[in-house]
Amino acid sequence: MAGETEKKKIIFSGVQPSGNLTLGNYLGALKNWSILQDEYNCFYCVVDMHAITVKQEPASLRRRTLETLAVYIASGIDPEKVTLFVQSHVSAHAELAWVLNCSTMFGELSRMTQFKDKSAKNESNINAGLFTYPVLMAADILLYQTDLVPVGADQKQHIEIARDIAERFNNTYSPTFVIPEPYIGKTGMRIMSLTEPDKKMSKSDENANSYILILDDKDTIIKKFKRAVTDSNTVVRYENGGGIANLLNIYCSCTGKTIEEAEKEFEGKGYGDFKLAVGEVCADSLEPVRQKFDELIKDTAYLESILKSGAEKASRQAYKTLDKVYRKVGFYKLPR
Ligand code: TYM
Repeated sequence: MAGETEKKKIIFSGVQPSGNLTLGNYLGALKNWSILQDEYNCFYCVVDMHAITVKQEPASLRRRTLETLAVYIASGIDPEKVTLFVQSHVSAHAELAWVLNCSTMFGELSRMTQFKDKSAKNESNINAGLFTYPVLMAADILLYQTDLVPVGADQKQHIEIARDIAERFNNTYSPTFVIPEPYIGKTGMRIMSLTEPDKKMSKSDENANSYILILDDKDTIIKKFKRAVTDSNTVVRYENGGGIANLLNIYCSCTGKTIEEAEKEFEGKGYGDFKLAVGEVCADSLEPVRQKFDELIKDTAYLESILKSGAEKASRQAYKTLDKVYRKVGFYKLPR
């Protein structure tokens, strides 16, 4: 059985515990994570070190780290099948990030759209961590010799730079890292804000009506969808773009229907009916997650035991790679 697990291809992914998780995180990432867990050897991480690139209240960060783990499990991720851990518990992430910083160019980091967006939003705190964020993310991925990284479309550029860094390192020092591929689902890849459909739905948005939280209750979800921005047309068609395309995308991600099937279903119906239906299917998808979360979050000892064994398992793989890297770059190793 252990041999079988070792032969499986490797997946790594993570979510920042920088806010409460949204429908975007669920449909863009978590839902795919649980689909992939049987076929792959998966490492799913709570990336707390990435979260502090933006100011965090320490007590909230600590609480949300455990809550994020509970949301992973409540979303159907099985701790018996995958490795679940917290990034700061495996110090190899920070160590590899330093080495990779020295194989990453200032110019390529300057081109990252997330850096540009986040520095525009945090003008008073454009710290070096925000700038080198993609290098830590590359370290996360490359430490596990990852084949596939399931993410939403917004992270594609970060996977591309991780590939470039890995290729550069391999060319300089000899093959060391597997070159990872992104895995981006079809419908949930880019869930947009409900109030400004040209912006991505984000847990850090100031307007609570712009996002659905995974843990929102049914009434709140229905209310938020009722207020969602649509467009000036009256027919439910994807080609109209904007808010309606986003709602169709959410509807299809939650039900597994195609856009054409959904358009047909709402032929002759108004936006009011459509928005209510989207709210219903979304609330129905999230309800079991919320119920499971409520149970799990009470059991700190259980959650901590998962993190403890997760960190041990992850460390074994991570230090294997880090050792190799240290040897290749020429760090002096003392005899044991
Ligand atoms: P984060 O925490 O912003 O988001 C976590 C995951 O959710 C996806 N996502 C979305 N998908 C569709 N629509 C949306 N509106 C939406 N919002 C978020 C993200 O694409 C992501 O998959 N840098 C990463 C965290 C990270 C990571 C990694 C991911 C750190 N190291 C290594 C993969 C591998 C981030 O900020 O995700």
